[in-house]
Amino acid sequence: MLNLQIPHATTVSALRARIKSWREDGLTVGFVPTMGSLHDGHLSLVRLAKAQSDRVVASIFVNPAQFAEGEDFDTYPRETLADAEKLANAQCDLIYLPERDVMYPDGFSTSIAMAGPAEGLESDIRPHFFSGVATVVAKLFNQVRPDIAVFGEKDYQQLLVIRQLVRDLDLPIDIIAGETARDRDGLALSSRNAYLSEIDRKRASALPQILKALAEALSAGGDLETTISEARSAAEAAFDGVDYLTVRDAASLAELKPGQLQQTGRILAAVRLGETRLIDNIAALPFKGPNPS
Ligand code: PAF
Repeated sequence: MLNLQIPHATTVSALRARIKSWREDGLTVGFVPTMGSLHDGHLSLVRLAKAQSDRVVASIFVNPAQFAEGEDFDTYPRETLADAEKLANAQCDLIYLPERDVMYPDGFSTSIAMAGPAEGLESDIRPHFFSGVATVVAKLFNQVRPDIAVFGEKDYQQLLVIRQLVRDLDLPIDIIAGETARDRDGLALSSRNAYLSEIDRKRASALPQILKALAEALSAGGDLETTISEARSAAEAAFDGVDYLTVRDAASLAELKPGQLQQTGRILAAVRLGETRLIDNIAALPFKGPNPS
């Protein structure tokens, strides 16, 4: 029995009973799904949900279906007591903490296959990932039935996949994007940053710098292929591997035509530092031309 400082539910029926009582009072419900090990980025999503709904539910579930064999499922940080305290301070109203057999009971046989924005990038490296995310998020949405759900732009491809899922399955939920929270040196906050050694943590700050330099070069009218190739060389020099560093259409993640950036783009990158993978992304705005004088 958990002794948390905030109301919590571990079963679908307990979760629904609490939400039903809010609904009977005419209250709206916001939802922030997480895998725990919460940092300020997650808490900013909770605050955003709270600003747009009367009550907020945050779930903590380390979803086995989005980890492949050999990935960090077993070692993924689990800190439920500390997380509960942070959520209480962020004015979250209820934590949903389902056990594995609540989400995936014996005989569970369904999985959602995603195409569209799920294709390429993360899927090239982690082919199982978006199916695992889409399946668990669809279940969580159906269990909580929120009015809005908040997802971080830090996982930009995931955000677009969830928007696609909601559109395709006619789920009556508004998906709200929360800005990426960053450390002082610009590194995007991530639970996996805890894996970095002191030296690698210092090296990691090169990633936001490289992305920012690329965004500046593009908005100054730089050629897409040249500027991306320069950014990739800088990333290859700074990191132990570069899974991708690319500029895509911001709405669809479709590849862009060579030449100058013509529409709002998104710069997305995944690099490796030792055993740790860092992902990040920022907006890329096209060159507007010199100001008329
Ligand atoms: O972004 C995450 O933490 C996870 O992918 C999510 C959305 C909670 C699904 O397990």
